[in-house]
Amino acid sequence: MDIEKLMGTPATVQVSKTISENKKARTLVFELPEANHQFKPGQFLMCWIPGIDEIPMSISLWNPPEVGVTVLPVGEATSVFSALSTGQRFGVRGPFGSGFSLECERALIIGGGIGMAPLRPLAYQLREHGIDVTALIAAKTKNELLYVDELEGLVGDGFDVQVATDDGSAGFKGIATDVVREIFQNARYDTIYTCGPEPMMAKLHMFSKEMGITIQASLERFMKCGCGICGTCALDPTGDLVCVEGPVFTGNRLNAIEEFGKYHRDSTGVKIRF
Ligand SMILES: Cc1cc2nc3c(=O)[nH]c(=O)nc-3n(C[C@H](O)[C@H](O)[C@H](O)COP(=O)(O)OP(=O)(O)OC[C@H]3O[C@@H](n4cnc5c(N)ncnc54)[C@H](O)[C@@H]3O)c2cc1C
Ligand code: FES
Repeated sequence: MDIEKLMGTPATVQVSKTISENKKARTLVFELPEANHQFKPGQFLMCWIPGIDEIPMSISLWNPPEVGVTVLPVGEATSVFSALSTGQRFGVRGPFGSGFSLECERALIIGGGIGMAPLRPLAYQLREHGIDVTALIAAKTKNELLYVDELEGLVGDGFDVQVATDDGSAGFKGIATDVVREIFQNARYDTIYTCGPEPMMAKLHMFSKEMGITIQASLERFMKCGCGICGTCALDPTGDLVCVEGPVFTGNRLNAIEEFGKYHRDSTGVKIRF
């Protein structure tokens, strides 16, 4: 095993700009060295926050050399990371993971909360490939929605945006899975791309089977190495590594992953039910 190759070229980068996306989430923009410029939407970087931790972050902005990650503070590492200012430095390795396949004709993108992060570059790439796209941006409340103004600015010519909130504070009132049924009453899509809370994605997986269409879902699991060495992110019972075979899995593969939608594991390997 060539560990150095697996680990990816490590680089130190400097925050060039920060963007407040909503009340909590911030995008950190930085320049990624050319050696790290192979990218598929859905891939992630391992971000090293000096003295704290190294954590996986989806690439939410891809305009090389300018790259961005959108960080939601939920614990120590994400809180310190999201508070970095222009000029401060951190480490990156990657991009890692499988990413989304762009093979489709009409795409419905469904992002729940911070799950919109890897779907933003996907929306741009699908649009560039001339594929019709509807992006459903969902969150518990309007305060947690991401990129709405930016993506609404692209509407037209086969690109549409819908918004849904659980409490009805913006867009459709209801959980994303109910809203999707409404959307399908007026339109048809051959592929659902999704990232967000796993119970939501599990329901969308069932829905895709009911409709006989394809789904690609991006999973989140605790990661240590991010590149296939430690086994921390292995899924039951297939043993798929989320950091290598994932984080994006197709519906066919999800059929075999019994823990999907049911449980994940903490840093010590203990099962935690969703
Ligand atoms: C492939 C991949 C891509 C990711 N992309 C992003 C991204 O683009 N933006 C982003 O903000 N995060 C993303 N994450 C999640 C991020 O890596 C974790 O939130 C982070 O590692 C938590 O570290 P911490 O030290 O801040 O929190 P910890 O101390 O590890 O956890 C603090 C508490 O928060 C809980 N927690 C951990 N993760 C989450 C979560 N995602 N949502 C809610 N509660 C959580 C833990 O169970 C714990 O109770 C991604 C994860 C993966 C696997
Ligand atoms: S995080 Fe180490 S193998 Fe996936």
